[in-house]
Amino acid sequence: MSNPLSVLLVNSDSSSRTTIAALLARCRHTVELSATAVSLKEVVKHLESDTPPQVVILEVQSISQGVRDVSTILTIIPHSMIIVTSVEKQPDWILTLIRAGAGEYLTTPINSEELEDALERAARMFEQKQGTETGGKVITVYNPSGGMGTTTISVNLAATLAAKGGTTSLVDLNPFSSDLVAFLDLNPAYTLSSIQETGERVDTSFLMSVMTPHSSGVKVLCGPEEIGLTAEITPNQILNLLTLIRSQFSVTIIDAGGSLSDRNLEIFNGSNLIIYPLLLTLPALNNARRYLKTMNQHGFGPNRVKVVVNRFLPKDDIRIADAEKILGVKIFHTIPNSYVEIKESIYKGTPLAIGYPRSPVTKALTELTGHIMTELDIGSR
Ligand SMILES: Nc1ncnc2c1ncn2[C@@H]1O[C@H](COP(=O)(O)OP(=O)(O)OP(=O)(O)O)[C@@H](O)[C@H]1O
Ligand SMILES: [Mg+2]
Repeated sequence: MSNPLSVLLVNSDSSSRTTIAALLARCRHTVELSATAVSLKEVVKHLESDTPPQVVILEVQSISQGVRDVSTILTIIPHSMIIVTSVEKQPDWILTLIRAGAGEYLTTPINSEELEDALERAARMFEQKQGTETGGKVITVYNPSGGMGTTTISVNLAATLAAKGGTTSLVDLNPFSSDLVAFLDLNPAYTLSSIQETGERVDTSFLMSVMTPHSSGVKVLCGPEEIGLTAEITPNQILNLLTLIRSQFSVTIIDAGGSLSDRNLEIFNGSNLIIYPLLLTLPALNNARRYLKTMNQHGFGPNRVKVVVNRFLPKDDIRIADAEKILGVKIFHTIPNSYVEIKESIYKGTPLAIGYPRSPVTKALTELTGHIMTELDIGSR
């Protein structure tokens, strides 16, 4: 993490300010203490400046004042990371302040390791943000549970994007299954496990050497053969991987799943768009409602997360309007149920656009690709 993090420290106690400043000076990351203050009121002008701090370390003594302060900071600098410090250990406090938008909660006296970890997460968040603004686009297809069409959508999106020109990659970061190998009939010499073993030393030539080419033009980073290994990838490895892959490909599609772990939040942080595939069943809708709400609390709201209804049957008991009411978001797109074509295309290891160019399901996936390109301002290439 090369860029220094600019930090504002708000704490009413002078000896705590000195202690925290000393911890910051000894941090692994270069930290620039841009200002210190006794109260937030004192530094509102600094928040409103042209160069606001990236991180605010905010002492909270009263829960109601804390929630107000967090909200003031986020209104003025929505993309800042707030690290709350407090003597209070009650889970209620932690939950309320995190829900209000704080990124971290550290109890005092501050443990230097915990502060380092929080700053490391902040540094990663800003590095990813910078990457999503400048490099190639990253689209993650994510549903926490399986069987919703995550891989079907990932593979076909990638193949359709590749057919439009530009460089396209597809990455298997799904912790349950390494499905891309079967869906594209690949026989990879290397997989994600090579990246995991190499740790921090991965560079672009190494990354390109472990990707498997597919006849559609897509370069694939396949999931490991070993069960459970993908779940061991660290947030730092994800940051490095996404930074490298963005520098090499104009678009990358990630097949993802599992709980809202630090690993997945890191993937979301590095994604310009998250596609959430969903079947119109009551359990799937209930799960989607809970997950979308929590993703929103983590800063991944409707601007960044798009729900796509898969296996859509127009005469279904549950209609699109019902789903939108339950989820409180618009459905971005629908993909029809198309058992035969999907089954055959998986069996042959061929994306739909190649095997069934005229089928309604291919048409729907091509339209979805078009919507995504518009959303992300990706021109026809
Ligand atoms: N639009 C569709 N019409 C008909 N069948 C579909 C459609 N989309 C996916 N399927 C089928 O649903 C099953 C699950 O799809 P897929 O493997 O893409 O989901 P997944 O979310 O990646 O699941 P997994 O948990 O296995 O990773 C597959 O057998 C596939 O054939
Ligand atoms: Mg899958």
